[in-house]
Amino acid sequence: MKSESQAVVRPARNVRGSVSLPGDKSISHRYAMLAAIADGPSRLANYSTGADCASTLGCLRSLGVKWERGGGVDNVIEVQGSGLALTAPSLPLDCGNSGSTIRMLSGILAGQKFSSEMVGDESLARRPMERVITPLTAMGARITSQNGCPPLRIIGAHLKGIHYQMPVASAQVKTCLLFAGLLAEGETRIEEPLRTRDHGEVALRAFGAQIERKGNEARILGGQRLRGIEARVPGDLSSAAFFLCAAALFPNSQLTVTSLLMNPTRARLLDILMQMGLRISVTQLEEVHGELVGTLQVEGGRLKGTTIAGSDTAALIDEIPVLAAIAPYTEQGIEVRDAKELRVKESDRIASLATNLRAMGAQVEEHEDGLKIPGGQSLHGTELESFGDHRIAMAFSIAALRAQGETLIHGSECAAISYPAFFSTLEGLVER
Ligand code: S3P
Repeated sequence: MKSESQAVVRPARNVRGSVSLPGDKSISHRYAMLAAIADGPSRLANYSTGADCASTLGCLRSLGVKWERGGGVDNVIEVQGSGLALTAPSLPLDCGNSGSTIRMLSGILAGQKFSSEMVGDESLARRPMERVITPLTAMGARITSQNGCPPLRIIGAHLKGIHYQMPVASAQVKTCLLFAGLLAEGETRIEEPLRTRDHGEVALRAFGAQIERKGNEARILGGQRLRGIEARVPGDLSSAAFFLCAAALFPNSQLTVTSLLMNPTRARLLDILMQMGLRISVTQLEEVHGELVGTLQVEGGRLKGTTIAGSDTAALIDEIPVLAAIAPYTEQGIEVRDAKELRVKESDRIASLATNLRAMGAQVEEHEDGLKIPGGQSLHGTELESFGDHRIAMAFSIAALRAQGETLIHGSECAAISYPAFFSTLEGLVER
């Protein structure tokens, strides 16, 4: 049986201090996978400490890739690239809770000369995979699934490039197909309905591949070789979101976040928080391997409401849980629309958010594609479920900071999926 733990979060009166985040989860997955199929060694510092990125490393080891952890506190991973061909695994590849691992790695496995099986936990077993199965099949792979969900059995093939218009805006799918395109014959063109995070494109370039981007289309020519890199993964912006939203709850907050990922396809959160009243200034901005990194100085202020819809929803997809969790404390409330994708994340995040907000005494309107949460509400502490979803556990520990009384979050250990040190870091930043 899995051991469950509970976090108890007490109300705070302020957020103050400086924090530097473990490496971004999206970039860590991509760097590890590309380092595995590159020629030569790679050295990845500040690799994500999350269990999801460890799942990616575990799968790569089962595929014959040699990697080790460097010593010291910098969470360095040293990977010996295997070149584009990996080794057939002897057992099913365990993707754990990680949708990124199963979806992105399937693009690489589809182009190998062997069959493989990818499995995961209960939550992953419910996540939709047709979005990768359909285009990878069109490229020549044969894939079986359990009604469109994991386990996936992938029979690798000599892939052919395709021109594919993605029906769902998903950076995981786009990256999967670009990875498959790298192994395919000819050119692969992927068009996305809305702009999603571009770490796949940026990372491929960092490892030496040529990718063209025109509007919402990315193109890659198959057969390009990659070369290993030395890199430092920028701090995870989606993890920083919890502390930024905590700071937004208190007018006198002062928070510094160093070496944070500032990629424009991820940084919409900063614009939204500034529109809502948080004061944010950026210093020490630099570009490293095509990714923008900077230091943020954050000061609390008023907390106005906002509406998140359309392309903003896609750009803020991982930050919506924490924005929704602080919505009752804003002046006008927050409305989230066009967010049906949230229903097929690690949990049904629309339902998880509505359930927990209501348990804390908030009024919430739940819609098929979002939520409307009025502002000016006060919440009370209570017992909540994490629903086994890391972002739900962390989001409600932030809502708890301004509630009356203590909040107990069951199953809080799932925060380790993306951020094992989350609760201790939060405790170090709040004043009571
Ligand atoms: C991710 C893309 C998003 C996001 C996930 C990470 C990525 O998922 O929710 O946490 O690294 O590409 P989708 O591609 O399903 O939108």
